[in-house]
Parts: sequence; C-alpha cells; structure tokens
Amino acid sequence: MKILVTGGAGYIGSHTMIKLLENGYEVVCVDDLSNSKMIAVKKVEEISGKKVDFYKADIRDREALRKVFTEHKIDSVINFAGYKAVGESCAKPIEYYDNNIYGILVLIEVMREFGVKNLVFSSSATVYGNPHKVPITEDFPLSTSNPYGSTKLFIEYILKDLYKSDNEFNISILRYFNPIGAHPSGKIGEDPNGIPNNLCPYITKVCVGKLPFVNIFGDDYPTPDGTGVRDYIHVEDLAEGHVLAVKKLEEKPGLFIVNLGTGVGYSVLEMVNAFSKALGKEVPYKIGPRRPGDIPMCYADPSFAEEFIGFKAKRTLDDMCRDALNWQLNNPDGYVE
Ligand code: NAD
Ligand code: UD1
Repeated sequence: MKILVTGGAGYIGSHTMIKLLENGYEVVCVDDLSNSKMIAVKKVEEISGKKVDFYKADIRDREALRKVFTEHKIDSVINFAGYKAVGESCAKPIEYYDNNIYGILVLIEVMREFGVKNLVFSSSATVYGNPHKVPITEDFPLSTSNPYGSTKLFIEYILKDLYKSDNEFNISILRYFNPIGAHPSGKIGEDPNGIPNNLCPYITKVCVGKLPFVNIFGDDYPTPDGTGVRDYIHVEDLAEGHVLAVKKLEEKPGLFIVNLGTGVGYSVLEMVNAFSKALGKEVPYKIGPRRPGDIPMCYADPSFAEEFIGFKAKRTLDDMCRDALNWQLNNPDGYVE
C-alpha cells in the first residue's frame, strides 16, 4: 500500500512517515519546505532504513500533484500540509485561508481525478473553542477564535459536505490535542522558526540556555494551580494514531472524527517541573499575564479513539520530556543543513 503524505517533512509528518514505513507502507512525500527542511526527510530514511519518494511541491500546484499521482498508484493520502501559527494567522489571514483551504481543495480535486478516495486530515482541538467542560468528546459544540482555527473548522465542514456528496470517500478527521516530544533517536523533532510560541519548544530552549526563563502566561485560571491545563501527547503516539486511521480507511468506514489525546491534563507548572526532572536541575520561570485568546483547560476524552480505531496513547509525560530534551540537546540549533 502506498501513502501520499503531504507536509511530511514537518514535525508530525516526519514522525508519521517513520511509523508508516515501519508498518510496511510505501511513502510518497509532497512538501514545499516552507516550514521544514529536506534533511528531515533524509533522517526519516536513515531511521527507518527505507526510501521516501520526495517531491518538493506546493499542494496548490495542481500540475505538480498530477505528476505525483501519475507516477504513483496512491491508496490513501494524509494531509499535514498547511500553516499552523495562531498569531501569524491573525496577521496574515488571507495567506492562511489560501494555503490551508485552497490547498486541500486542489488536493481533493486531484485525488478525485485519479480515483483516490481515502483521506486523513489533521484537525485540531482548537475547533472546540473554549469547551464548556472537560474531558472533551467529539460531539462537543465547535467554534473558533482565530483564522488558523477557522481554516481547520471550515475544512471539517468541506470534508463533511464532500462525504455527503460522494460516500465512496473515506475520510478520517483527527483532532490533535497538544503534540510534544520527539523520536527517541534524537534525530528528528520539532524545529520552530525563531522564538517558539508553544510551551514545550520554549521550555526546551530554556533548558539548553538559549532562552533565559519560561514565561508562564497567567496563574489565575480556574485550574488546580492556576496555570493553564492541556492534554500533551507524545508525537510518537500521535504518529501511531495516523497508522491506525489509515488502516481503518482500508475497511471503508466512511467519514469519522476522533480525538487524539491522552485524556490527562497537565498544568504549565507541572510541565515546567517535569522538564526540571528530565534535565536534572530547576528550569527557571516567571509568572506573567495571561496570553490573549488562551483557555483555562483542554483535555480529550480519548475513549472513542480507542473504541473505533484502537488508539490509546502509551507514552508518559516523562517520556515526552526526555525525548523533547534529547532532541534539543542533540540539535541545539534545530535542523542544520
Ligand atoms: P509543520 O509546519 O511542522 O508541518 C507542516 C508541513 O507542511 C511543513 O513541512 C511545511 O513545509 C509543509 N507545507 C505547508 N504548506 C504547504 C503547501 N502548500 N504545500 C506543501 N507543503 C506545505 O506542522 P506540524 O506541527 O507537523 O503540523 C502538521 C499539521 O497538523 C498541520 O496541518 C497543523 O495545522 C496540524 N496540527 C498541528 C498541531 C501541532 O501542535 N503541531 C496541532 C493540531 C493540528
Ligand atoms: C496552541 C494554539 C492552538 C493549537 C495548539 C497546538 C494558541 C492561542 N493556541 O494551543 O490553536 O492548536 O497550540 O499547536 O496559540 N504557555 C505559557 N508560556 C509559553 C507558552 C505557552 O505559559 O511561553 C501556556 C499557555 O498559556 C497554555 C499552555 O502553556 O496554557 C500551552 O500553550 P501552547 O503550547 O501554546 O498550546 P495551546 O495554547 O494549547
């Protein structure tokens, strides 16, 4: 079976390609390298000992996609390609709508042209907005508060309408919670540009002395210690979730939506403490004001994922911190080509 992975050179895509290769799938990767480097694909090949057929292309480039589908008989597509920074999406909404929404529209049109009808889409817990309670089940009301989140929600609507119009499609919408960590080899990991926006890459930069301290965004939330609570999931677990989703598509299940989370929430302070434990010394932090748009608490009810695709996150918080730190220590400047 051959899987087309768009955005496969990125953080989640690179980990997923390894799991696919380890599970006997052939992998074709399309990435424009707008937020990644080719070396990540080389590392995937090195770790797995298998080849990835790589195309440097934008998924909005219809002719480039046609070439890929002409040269390979694709069974299923996993679409990771897209922009993902919330703050940037507020400054550049049109670029986000264009890349994320127009991108998947072109991809779907070309898939249809070539009779490929199995698709996995990377959605996000951001589509739950500020949930009225936790844990969050897949049937919770949906809303968004920024253009990035809106692209995810609109694409979910597009995929539902597509399925209604053509139920030969099999579509898996995966709502990720907060992916962190890295491959245990320390060879691939998260490599954000500039100062990280997300908590864990920020903490690991503090751990290696690239940043002086962690800014904790508020300690007056209605949570046990006042800091924000999230469902952090090891990227390796998340990657395995994609293999299970692809296997499920082979059973022709129609459209399904699952949360990919652990079901456990950790606070910002608990995360800082967990990294201090992994590092063997205190990670410095300061409490600052809340970040606009943040919600107090967000964690998944993962039971449907377990029941429907057999997914259960196995890795612990200690595993996540150790692997994230190992990647950062081995690659203090991220990928260097
Ligand atoms: P990433 O930026 O590391 O990976 C995305 C990849 O897509 C990059 O390699 C980039 O170069 C590529 N890309 C972007 N636009 C493209 C285009 N038009 N054509 C071809 N390639 C393109 O991001 P990630 O963290 O691996 O996230 C993957 C997907 O999962 C994204 O869609 C993201 O929105 C979604 N997601 C991520 C998180 C998270 O916390 N990382 C959470 C929820 C959902
Ligand atoms: C962010 C995005 C969300 C996206 C998710 C996964 C925002 C507002 N939301 O979610 O849309 O789906 O990433 O990529 O950007 N924190 C600090 N100090 C920091 C950074 C974060 O205290 O320097 C806190 C935050 O307030 C939050 C927690 O750490 O409580 C996690 O933050 P982050 O890693 O940015 O993820 P989310 O806000 O959950």
